Amino acid sequence: MTPLRSVGDAAVHGRRVLVRVDFNVPLTPEGAIADDRRIVEALPTLRHLEAAGARTILMSHLGRPDGRRDSRFSLRPVARRLSSLLGRPVPMAEDAVGVHALEASARLQNGEFLLLENLRFHPGEEANDPAFATQLAQLGEVFVEEAFGTVHRAHASTVGVPQRLPSCVGFLVEREIRELGRLREGVERPYVVLLGGAKVADKLPLLESFLGRADSLLIGGALAFPFLARAGARLGATAVEGGLESALARFAERAAAAGTKVVLPDDWLIEVPGSADAQACGAREVPDGAIARDIGPRTRDRFYAELTGSRTVFWNGPLGRAEDRRFAAGTREVLAGLQGLAGYHVCAGGDSARVAADLGVDGAFQYISTGGGAALEFVQGAELPGLAVIPSA
Ligand code: 3PG
Repeated sequence: MTPLRSVGDAAVHGRRVLVRVDFNVPLTPEGAIADDRRIVEALPTLRHLEAAGARTILMSHLGRPDGRRDSRFSLRPVARRLSSLLGRPVPMAEDAVGVHALEASARLQNGEFLLLENLRFHPGEEANDPAFATQLAQLGEVFVEEAFGTVHRAHASTVGVPQRLPSCVGFLVEREIRELGRLREGVERPYVVLLGGAKVADKLPLLESFLGRADSLLIGGALAFPFLARAGARLGATAVEGGLESALARFAERAAAAGTKVVLPDDWLIEVPGSADAQACGAREVPDGAIARDIGPRTRDRFYAELTGSRTVFWNGPLGRAEDRRFAAGTREVLAGLQGLAGYHVCAGGDSARVAADLGVDGAFQYISTGGGAALEFVQGAELPGLAVIPSA
């Protein structure tokens, strides 16, 4: 991808710099920040702006409040965490637009920060409403795109604002493009893709994008159920996503034509009613009433054998119900094996990074993206609206 204009080259001293960050962090049921990686990863750009004497206005969404003010989605906990990480107070504007936000941004001194309240309290954000984008753009003189996790959304803050202000990308976005770009161009082979999680319908475009590009596609977790069901497997009481017949038939044809090896589980760990322990069974003969929950030991060995000798590995999605310790072994053991292998290993999308960290195997990866859906779309090769709008360097 052609390099985009960088914040490192932008004239920011004494100017109001409007930065789109992705501070959409996971919260605990009590509303505390469960994982602050997205805030921490934006710090190099924020420290650069501080040192360069910019007047920085930060804007983000949190959750999906559907265009209404809802205190459960306030960015207040983020402002507190950011203040402690930066070692200086980060005041908040109670609303992303309006007189108060304008006055607070105009009062900023060189090197100071202001955080706007959740952009998605306004319906104009997701609708990319021109009037809302204009109001936001009035807060700054320069725009920095630093919200890699949101560049797949054509919203007011990601597309409308950069259409109205001189724009560039921040250091995190530059790094994500550089690192994930290694999965798009000049990929070192063998290239093995390891995918789990659920929702085959959502992930089919991603799966298809690897046909002909990857050497092997290893499919675990609930993602494998419809593939096995189509091949006649008995899956007991396992919930299998339906309505995918023609899509899966097309996928099988394309995989055969592309020469990409698709590897499905040979065995499962199952949950049997009345038994607290996990039991193993063949992937095609889950007993009546039992539920497939994790890949079994034979599949772990098979996946490990495919990963051995690879030069590039991409992982997204747990290979079983990793939040239940009885069914976490598949994900944990395969990633622990990967940890000992050479090559370039990348993790991206959704909760994958958190799952790997919780299982103590995040050391398997040379790069962990901050992106969820955005990272998956980028890896697929899609053009993302929040990047397409930024001028080239
Ligand atoms: C994410 O977490 O993937 C981004 O912050 C985008 O959030 P969204 O899926 O609610 O648009």
